[in-house]
Amino acid sequence: MDQSANPRTAAYRIGDDGTPRVVDAAGHPEVARLRAWLGERDVWVQDALRRDGALLFRGFDVGDAATFESVATAIAPVLRDDLPGMPGRPLTEFVHPSSEVAPHFPLSQHLERGHVATPPARIFFGCLEAPPRGSGETPLADFRKVFADLSPNTRDRFEARGVRTVRNLRGPSTGRRPWSQERWDCVFRTSDRQAIEARCARDAIQTEWRTDDGLRLTFDRPASRAHPETGERVWHNQVAPDHIGAATLDNRRIFGLRPGLRSLLLWQSMRLRLALIRRTPPDLVPSFCTYGDGQEIPETDLREVWDAIWRHLAIWDWRRGDVLVLDNHAMSHGRFPYRGRRRVVTCLA
Ligand SMILES: [Fe+2]
Repeated sequence: MDQSANPRTAAYRIGDDGTPRVVDAAGHPEVARLRAWLGERDVWVQDALRRDGALLFRGFDVGDAATFESVATAIAPVLRDDLPGMPGRPLTEFVHPSSEVAPHFPLSQHLERGHVATPPARIFFGCLEAPPRGSGETPLADFRKVFADLSPNTRDRFEARGVRTVRNLRGPSTGRRPWSQERWDCVFRTSDRQAIEARCARDAIQTEWRTDDGLRLTFDRPASRAHPETGERVWHNQVAPDHIGAATLDNRRIFGLRPGLRSLLLWQSMRLRLALIRRTPPDLVPSFCTYGDGQEIPETDLREVWDAIWRHLAIWDWRRGDVLVLDNHAMSHGRFPYRGRRRVVTCLA
């Protein structure tokens, strides 16, 4: 730890290495004080986020969504509520639960809303109730390093062909589908089809209404893009998390990390799920990714991508009151499975 960010006033302990870099309250948990500290150090905070990708504020009195939001706005005064698909019921105007995905299901690494025309520059997470240690973490990966770490052949292949992502949503009157799919009126928070089409057109997403009231979204994207502030190349596509094999690839590695009966069963159940999904008509699968030309991404390429992500994965435990902020242009996040209670909330800027 070093306290040299600003020796005159730095009462907080600032970690000098590791991901995420920690700003520790060091016995000064008052949020009003933190907000004032942040107000004086905007340049330092933004530089740290661009360079390190993540900052974790630990030991502060952040026990509810409104307080969490007040810390977020001290870093990013303008929060966003214009993006479709925010999970759950809002807790404040801008704060939502971080995810509604079942606890046993891993969420693979992704940049939040990386596929829309203007993705959020920052994503915030607040831990209102920590999961049991060694579970329910929010691992992070620097997608600049992931891009640089791929073999030139694989990187060139992805760069030349791009990535196509298809998401299938069900409608208010769609009958049962074999795999859980989100409802398009919930994702877009409207049942106005023209408004949905206009929103998707803005984000270069093709829409196709299905005869069973479903909606298919298709978007073709490059595999990488330049960081809008630094120009660095970033692995920037939806292969993880939208590839049908994503959960299996993650659970295989989680089992390697935490061998045991439960992680073995989760991995094997995901393998079975994947085998069944492969036999399901594409329209009924929640989402899938191919190369931009529609060709399947071979297993060898997928494994290389997951190996690169996992080589750079930072896994750390939540503590109650933690506030995490990420440079969403570069630092991806995911979620490990958990059991029991876990309350992590989020907002975007
Ligand atoms: Fe996310």
